Amino acid sequence: MKKKRVYIFLAIASIAILAVIRNVQLKRAKAPEYVFTYAENQSEDYPTTKGALKFSELVWEKTSGRIKILVKSGAELGSEKEVISQMQYGGIDFARISIAQISDSIPEMNVLQMPYLYNNSEHMWNVLYSPIGDKFLSLMEEQHLKGLSWYDAGARSFYNTKKPICKPEDLVRMTIRVQESSYMNNVVTELGAKYYNTSYADTYSAIERGVVDGAENNWPSYISSGHYKVAGYFSEDEHVRIPEMQICSEHTWNKLTAQDQKIIMECARLSAEYEHDLWQEEEKKAKQTAKEYGCVINELTTEEKEAFKVVLSELYPKYCGKYRDIIDQIIQVGQNK
Ligand code: GCU
Repeated sequence: MKKKRVYIFLAIASIAILAVIRNVQLKRAKAPEYVFTYAENQSEDYPTTKGALKFSELVWEKTSGRIKILVKSGAELGSEKEVISQMQYGGIDFARISIAQISDSIPEMNVLQMPYLYNNSEHMWNVLYSPIGDKFLSLMEEQHLKGLSWYDAGARSFYNTKKPICKPEDLVRMTIRVQESSYMNNVVTELGAKYYNTSYADTYSAIERGVVDGAENNWPSYISSGHYKVAGYFSEDEHVRIPEMQICSEHTWNKLTAQDQKIIMECARLSAEYEHDLWQEEEKKAKQTAKEYGCVINELTTEEKEAFKVVLSELYPKYCGKYRDIIDQIIQVGQNK
């Protein structure tokens, strides 16, 4: 009788153990083949981060859970410059970056961010979604990166703690934080201000501590970063439109099959379209938030903008001498539409 009970116990125990093993095996079978990281320096609720999350979701769906992309927002993986260099060694798989952060390494990239190059947002999109845009995506390969798709980042304008900026002379003797890019240093120097380089994440405290008088960025960043709370004068001069790009490390890219690469490209494109729609809304909302908070906003007239345009036109020979043909093609796109 006792023996029988022992046998029953052993039989039940073996069934239980087998079930556990089977469960583990099943879970293993379902575990993704790849788990990748995606760096984003904006906060969770920012349009580019939402675009990244959409990208991750689409890739997960279209690969039936074989590829998982973990989006790390809020500069958790480092500043854009740090992220780019990590990606070149394969330490981070994907990111969304502002092209200003790569243009010191790929000088031709400056062409796409020249002052007042585009008549408006539509002109920029007609350029980026043309063979010109495709060519610039492929330029990333020089830096061991794969350009996937274009993200919107609107137009950048100056904001500061002191006064409205209506003409270039108003910037004289001001210190303005700019992205870590020699081109952006030259933009503010040309206008008579001093530049100060620091990462996006550190800009708030640079303004608050008075290390700088102001910075320049697009509407959604002005709000999302909280800069509007410490630099209440926003002057809509729209001196540059700096496109943003979703990129992949060459190390990661080369691990993928041609079929998976195709899926990644497709999802990057779809997520970009999603981000563009969010962007339009976010720009309006951000401006409204600034108004309600009591920020002093001055929209520059066409004549006022023209004065900035004239001063900044000096940068064209310096940055585009070799690429005059591309500039002409870009201008042509604006005239066709
Ligand atoms: C924008 C852009 C960021 C960039 C930032 C900056 O907000 O989206 O990627 O880091 O400008 O001024 O540094």
